[in-house]
Amino acid sequence: MIAIVGGSGTEALYRRKEELDINTPFGKATVYLLKEDVYLLLRHGRGHKVPPHMINYKANIWALKEMGTRGIIATNAVGSLIRNVKPGSFVIPHDFLDFTKSRSFTFYDDKVVHTDMTKPYDEEVRRAIIKSAKKLNLNIVERGVYVATEGPRYETPAEIRMFRRLGGTIVGMTGVPEVVLAKEVGIKYASLCVVTNYAAGMQKRISHSEVIKLMEVKLKEVKKIIDGAIEVLLEKWKK
Ligand code: HPA
Repeated sequence: MIAIVGGSGTEALYRRKEELDINTPFGKATVYLLKEDVYLLLRHGRGHKVPPHMINYKANIWALKEMGTRGIIATNAVGSLIRNVKPGSFVIPHDFLDFTKSRSFTFYDDKVVHTDMTKPYDEEVRRAIIKSAKKLNLNIVERGVYVATEGPRYETPAEIRMFRRLGGTIVGMTGVPEVVLAKEVGIKYASLCVVTNYAAGMQKRISHSEVIKLMEVKLKEVKKIIDGAIEVLLEKWKK
């Protein structure tokens, strides 16, 4: 089973067939059936009401695990730290830097488990996304370091300069702990990041409406990339 975890601007992406409320030890999660073996979880809830630092990441990932999810394709709207990586581009991160502050970030509070993060993002799912985007002749950046910030505010120019020095490529508010929790429960996770803006200090100002507007422009491409990637993965995993 494959799940799409849809971020900002993706609510209009799919016709949802059935709504499933799933109870977990961490609270309720809502998952939508799209077609056989393919589900959608809207990270910010219906109507984009839940801000990044209030998302119940543990309930979401636990619910998907309970349902038998093998792979997750996430979407994240991000700002770019690199001039060459322009708004409108796609980045498939291979690593992250975690600058979140207050989130519930692990399933292992009662047991000593140190999860290997040498490859936080799954190569098989990453490759499927890259293959699909290439087949569509879309320009994508195949690797990148995702800097996760706490939000809900955007970053300062000084923070962005620091992140760039540390090796960051893109910045967003929701990639961590999602990728970590997925790794902890053994779900193969990768993210299709949509660059919606240059990060703070690289353009005049940043606004949420600008982010949503660019996501809307890219939505058709996002859907095509995801659909292609799902096809690749379902075919592989059927065997
Ligand atoms: N910073 C953090 N999150 C974001 C940005 C940004 O510039 N753009 C879209 N999500």
